[in-house]
This record gives sequence, structure tokens and C-alpha cells, in this order.
Amino acid sequence: MNGTSLSCLLLIGLLIPSVAASPRERLLFDNDWRFTKDDPADVGDQLNYQKVKADVMQTGQDLQDAPLSQQPLAAPVNASIGGNVSYVQSVFDDSSWRSLNLPHDWAIEGPFKQEYFGGTGKLPYWGVGWYRKHFDVPASDQGRQVLLNIDGAMSYSMVWINGHFAGGWPCGYTSYQVELTPYLNYGGSNVITVRLDNPNHSSRWYPGAGIYRHVWLLKTAPVHVAQNGTFLTTPDISPSQAAIDLKVSVDNQGSASADVVVSTDAYELNSDDTIGANPVAQAAPVRVAVPAGMRQMSEVKFTMSNPKLWDIANPNRYVAVTTLTENGVTVDRYETPFGIRTVKFDPNLGFFLNGKHVEINGTCNHSDLGALGMAINSRAMERELQTLKEMGCNAVRTTHNTPAPEFLTLCDKLGILVMDEAFDCWGAGKNDYDYHVLFGDWHSKDLRTQIRRDRNHPSVILWSTGNEIQEQLWGQKVSQELTDIVHSEDPTRMVTAACSYEVAAFNGFQKTLDVFGFNYKYGLYQSFHEKNPDQPIFGSETASTVSSRGEYFFPPDSDKTNFQVSSYDLTAPGWASPPDPEFKAEAKFPFVAGQFLWTGFDYLGEPTPYDNDATNLLNFHDPVEKAKMAEEMKALGKLHVPSRSSYFGALDLAGFKKDLYYLLQSQWLPDKPMAHILPHWNWPDRVGLVTPVFVYTSGDEAELFLNGHSLGRKKMGSEVRLRWNDVKYEPGELKVVAYKNGKEWAEDEVKTTGPATKLILSADRTAIKADGQDLSYITVAIADKDGLTVPRSNNVVEFEVSGPAEIVATDNGNATSLVPFQSKQRQAFNGLALAIVRTKPGQPGDILVTAKSDGLAPAEVALKSE
Ligand code: GAL
Repeated sequence: MNGTSLSCLLLIGLLIPSVAASPRERLLFDNDWRFTKDDPADVGDQLNYQKVKADVMQTGQDLQDAPLSQQPLAAPVNASIGGNVSYVQSVFDDSSWRSLNLPHDWAIEGPFKQEYFGGTGKLPYWGVGWYRKHFDVPASDQGRQVLLNIDGAMSYSMVWINGHFAGGWPCGYTSYQVELTPYLNYGGSNVITVRLDNPNHSSRWYPGAGIYRHVWLLKTAPVHVAQNGTFLTTPDISPSQAAIDLKVSVDNQGSASADVVVSTDAYELNSDDTIGANPVAQAAPVRVAVPAGMRQMSEVKFTMSNPKLWDIANPNRYVAVTTLTENGVTVDRYETPFGIRTVKFDPNLGFFLNGKHVEINGTCNHSDLGALGMAINSRAMERELQTLKEMGCNAVRTTHNTPAPEFLTLCDKLGILVMDEAFDCWGAGKNDYDYHVLFGDWHSKDLRTQIRRDRNHPSVILWSTGNEIQEQLWGQKVSQELTDIVHSEDPTRMVTAACSYEVAAFNGFQKTLDVFGFNYKYGLYQSFHEKNPDQPIFGSETASTVSSRGEYFFPPDSDKTNFQVSSYDLTAPGWASPPDPEFKAEAKFPFVAGQFLWTGFDYLGEPTPYDNDATNLLNFHDPVEKAKMAEEMKALGKLHVPSRSSYFGALDLAGFKKDLYYLLQSQWLPDKPMAHILPHWNWPDRVGLVTPVFVYTSGDEAELFLNGHSLGRKKMGSEVRLRWNDVKYEPGELKVVAYKNGKEWAEDEVKTTGPATKLILSADRTAIKADGQDLSYITVAIADKDGLTVPRSNNVVEFEVSGPAEIVATDNGNATSLVPFQSKQRQAFNGLALAIVRTKPGQPGDILVTAKSDGLAPAEVALKSE
């Protein structure tokens, strides 16, 4: 079976028994694309965005303003952009282009170059990329509306169908659609061409490059529910009943007025996305007249008895299934997954979910998936979210852009709160070519699309119009405009922005937001509250502690010339802090709704404190060490540091837990018995030297033992960690016994290991789906004869896979590694390395992953693709 027919089988939609087939088809359109880099010679400047932007802006006309109860439909884009360019022509021979499946991030393939800018990951994300896909359209599709939905393409997309320009969208994070209907070849073959043009200097982090999210082909009858055309709210909830209000926008693409009956049934939605057999609530059908060429909004109100609320522990979901019938014939069926819950920010008491106080224990996270780059993968996102949840993180902030739609569905399913963010800048930029160049023309469309796409997700509790926006200093008016846009699309949720300037809390900017988000300003919570007693506040970005997994320097917060950062969790750049003071402030001020710590996972780019060249190391605070490093690099003939990914995460880029993970867990899961000792205990050069030991625990007291001798029992008090600062190293066993309320609570131990003798492999999941998307994350540990991971080991491991699967990436969490992620060989970093294995579509079977390393016993792990 070839990829095209396979993708056509992947009809996405929830399976509803007993409901007639819908004329709506949503086909996953990811497979069998052709790709090439760079423009052909005949382009000239005819695709220069600045020259053609008025035409590109025909796309998404209906998103320019607030929705009306009735409005004309936007006409298909009609523009002659690129008419002479060979690559857009139907007859162009693209057989020499590379064939690939989406999602695709061309920049993650590298190569990394040390001289590239570390802030964007030392990867070549800039430049032009072209994609083409051939597909057949049956003659029977004549009369249907056919749309291409692109969930995200980085960036400045332009789309052609059979040589006709069909639309485009410059912002790479926005999900958009273009209409293909008028230009299709019915009963024959068709070709879609997409050109992307990523400007350099357009991001403060690694943005990726390419069509990096899913693409869908959508076919509907002329009368159908509009794009993101439902809005479901639950205005009144009691234990016995939930009032449901559903707005449905119906488009009539036909030439005659339509008399449409809109019916809606609600069902339970199971965690595997199957739906309950019987409706749990039904709306009385409403009749709407939709004139030809118009969009008509209808509204139904109905109730559900004994609603199961959505919350963090029990993320109960429902789906509203809306059917449109015309003269008794079903013309559309549209599914709106939703949840029933209330959210409230209180200026004195913080955040409430379903009337219960919930401390927001959140993390900020960029969208890249580590070694997979920006190419989205649901399992990779799920693994990250599950890991965060295990840490006690109950909320994520999608810094600093709207995420992939699947990300929000996963948050709905897993019970994770979301602060859904729009922008990193408005009209005043942070880089020469970042969003500020688009803001004037596109902010309304980008923001409205985001809200319409995301507003039915129960996980979304807060919209953020921006991060550390320069306009905090003067932009009350524009901020108010953005807040008004959000309210016009969703009056049920509050609006915030992540503010970094002290003055923004007092100059009136704060009043343009419903909830005030403060970045790194725990010291100002009190004065904000005093001056703005009616306004809720939270820590929209906190800590920014930097660390490298498994690296410990002495004294614990000192610098070292190895481009790593000590993992005692005491190091932070000038604007930031270790996590401790934020935790203390959160405990002291009940009016603070919680925090979003920077960051859950390390991410590509922003390798603070090694952002720049050797003579300009940001925040490298020891001048002697800094000078030494500059000298060493000069001697090597290297100006630029090797670091390409961040050090901020509680987990490293490979997803391995750093010590910070345990510190956060100790605070966020106080009822989970846990204790964690750092550092490791392999210090042959430190015998007799002071080697501080820290313990992170959810207990309130702990006693430390070195080779059976007590080093004292310490109480936590108002601190968030216990420190034994005077421990003199001797090899052996370090053990902690933690107590809570005087009772034994948890233990941990670290042992000095022997030399490395073997590899140990473990898989996060051994049974995976044969869908060409599912992943198994395989960890290799370099171990001694007793199976203990050898902390400083850095042996080179060679991975191999047999059976229906491939190794798509390897990593080790080392922020300075410039080895391509696609390499099957990976040096362990402080004892660990990772291989990511992906199944092959439609090929079930046994998979064997093996790992070898010179001088060590090899290891293997068996997987099943089902
Ligand atoms: C913040 C910014 C984040 C990230 C962070 C690093 O100021 O909002 O995007 O750059 O600093 O500490």
C-alpha cells in the first residue's frame, strides 16, 4: 500500500456508532511529499513577501474581526502570485526532489556549526524550503468544498494548487487553512506546492523550519460548520446539572439559501478517544436559515445531568456531536470535545478549579521536542507531559506561542492546566525579523485564530497576549486592544501577559490585563498586591536556575571552563534566581496564584550562560574563570562556545531527570514520600576534601549517613532543601533517612561505583503502535558490575535496531554536543544516553534494539510493534 492510500484511510474523527456517515472527511495529508531547499533561478523577487503581502492577506479574511451573528463568507483567494515560477506549475517535474513524510523540520538535520548563533540552537533554520504533493481528486468531489489545513509551517507560507496561488500565512505558529475548491482538477491529478521562507534573526530560541505540524485535507458539503466554528461554554454548573451553551457557525457555500436543522448530542469521551454508546445530553434541534454565501451563527442551550467535572486528578471529557440536516439529509457532522469545569482567579486567595483552591505548580516550555526538533509527534509530547505530571507539575505555559493542537488535547486528557500564549513581541521587536514586522497586519488574525481553535479545551485556563513585551513601558492602548480581541472571541476566560518590568505593575499597563503575570519578581508581589488589591497575580515565569545533569563544581555555585553548569541548583543569571525564594514567596503570599518555572525541559537554543562568544559570556560571573575560558578558546582558534541548547530545564534535552526535578517534586507533591541526595559519590580526587551534600525531600527533617556514620539530623524549617556543607569525601555509601512529623518518611542512597563493565538498556514502552508515529525511548546506562550507573562515564555507544522500526534520533542531554541528532553513535553524558525508536506504518512485528560500546558488555531490549 503506498503512502497516499494509507493516509486516505486515516480518516480522523471519533467513532460514533449509530450515526449516519457524514459528508465531512478530514484526511491526514502528511505522507508522500517532495521537498527541496532554496528557490529556483526564475523566482527573482516575485515572491518577496513585502511586495505580495496585500495578496497573501486575502487569506483568513473572516478572522480580521470579531464574529458576527451573520456575515458574508470570505471569497477564495484570488491572486496571481508566483505565476511564472517553475516550482509552482502542475507540469514541473519534482521527481528529483527528496521524498518525505510530514511533520518535517529541515533544520534539525543540521549540521550544527559552532560559529552559528547558540541562541537559536546552532542549527540552520533560516532560508527557503519547497514542498510539493501530488494527489487525486475524484470526480464525485465536484460541488464539495475542499480545504487544506496546515497546523503549522515555519514560516511565511505560500500555497499553490495546480499553479494557482491559494493563500499563505506568515506566522509559523498559527494553524491556518486555504481553500482549494475553485482550482481543483476533479477526476484527475492535482499538485499542492508550499513555499516557506524563514528569515534569519527571527527568533530568540530554536524555531524549527518546515511544515513541522500535521496537514489535513478537509472535504465538506457546501453547507457545513465553519472552521473552528463551534464555541461551547458551561455557564452554570452544579453537582446535579450543567448548563451548556453551544454556538455553531454554519457556512453556506452553495448558491441557494439553506434551511438547516442544527442538532447536538453530547457523549462521554473515553481516554482512548472512543465515545460512550449513548448520549448523556441532547439539545433541542434549532432551525436556521443560512443565505447563500453567508455564515450564520446559531445558539443552543441545553443541560447535562450529574456532570462529571474535568479536573487535574480526573480529567473527564465529553464530546458534543453537532449534526446539520437539510431537508432531512445529513450535510455535516462536527465534533466538539469539551470538559465541564469552572476556573477563577481570586485577588486574595489565588486560583480555584471547580471551586477548590489549586496552587498553580507550573512550568514554562518551548515547543521543540529535543532531538526531534520542532517536528511534532504526539507520543513525544505525551512523554514530556507525563514526566512533568510525575514531577508534580500541574500546569504548562506554552512559551511564547500557541502550541500544536494535539498538545492541548493531551493536556485535556492528562489533566494539565494550560496558559496559552500568543506572542513574544508586539510592534516593538526583540530581533530584526521577529513577529514585530508582522504585528500590525496580522495580530488580529493570529490571535483570533488561536482563540477560536483552542477555546473549547478545558485545559486552557488563561490566555496570554505576550511575554516580556517592550510595550509594557508605554503600550496600555495596544495591550487593551489585544485583551479586547481575546474577550470578543472568548468572554469566559481571563487574559494575562508575562510582565518583566517593575513599572508595568503600577503604570496602568497592569489594568489592561485581568490577571497580572510577573516574571522573576517575587520581591514585588507584596507591593503589587497593596497597590492593586482587586487584581489577581501569579508568577508567570520564575527561577531560571541553570544546571547540567551530573555536573558538580566545588564550591557548589562556582564556574568551570567546561561549558557546563554545576547541578547544585544555586546558579542563575542576573535577572533570575535559584528556585528557593520563589517557593518561599508562594508560601508566604496566599494571594499569589502560583508559578510557571522556567523551564520543565531543556530546549534547543538559549544556552545561557554560554549564549555568545568566548569573550562575551553572559552571566558568567567569575571574571577569572571567564578570562581563562576566553584564553583557552583563543588557543583552540575558536571564538564561539559550543553550547546549543539550554541549561534551564528540570529535565535535560534527552528527558533525563536533573536534580532540580526532585527539588520541584519535593515541593509540588508534598504527600509523596521522597528523598533525593546530590551529588553522586564518585570523587577519587576529593578524598578528605569538603564535598557538600544536599537533600531534596518532601519530609520535614532528615539524617544523613556516610558509611554508616551519622552526619547529623537537620530540619527543613522555611527552607526548601537541606544542606550538609561540611561533608568530607570518602568513598562508600551516602544514605539519607527523611522524616515527616517525626515518622520515617523516605530514604535515598548513592554509592561509589566500580569501573564501567556493561551497558544496561531500558525502554519507556515495549509495546508500541505500528503507525509510523509511535515511539519508544530507549535509555542506555553505563554501569558497573553491580548495575550501578557510573556517574562520570562518557563511553561512546553504538545503537542498532532490527525489525520494523528505525532509530530516528539519539541524544545524551549534553548541551555542548554538536554531533547530529540523527547519528546512531552517541557518547554517554554522565552515564546516560538515549535512542528514540519509531515504528514503521502498517508493519507490526518484533523489534530488537541493541547497544554496543568498546570494552563493555553489550545490551539489548525487545519491543513489539502492534
Ligand atoms: C526570560 C524570557 C524567556 C527566557 C528566559 C531565560 O526573560 O521571557 O523567554 O529567555 O528569560 O531566563
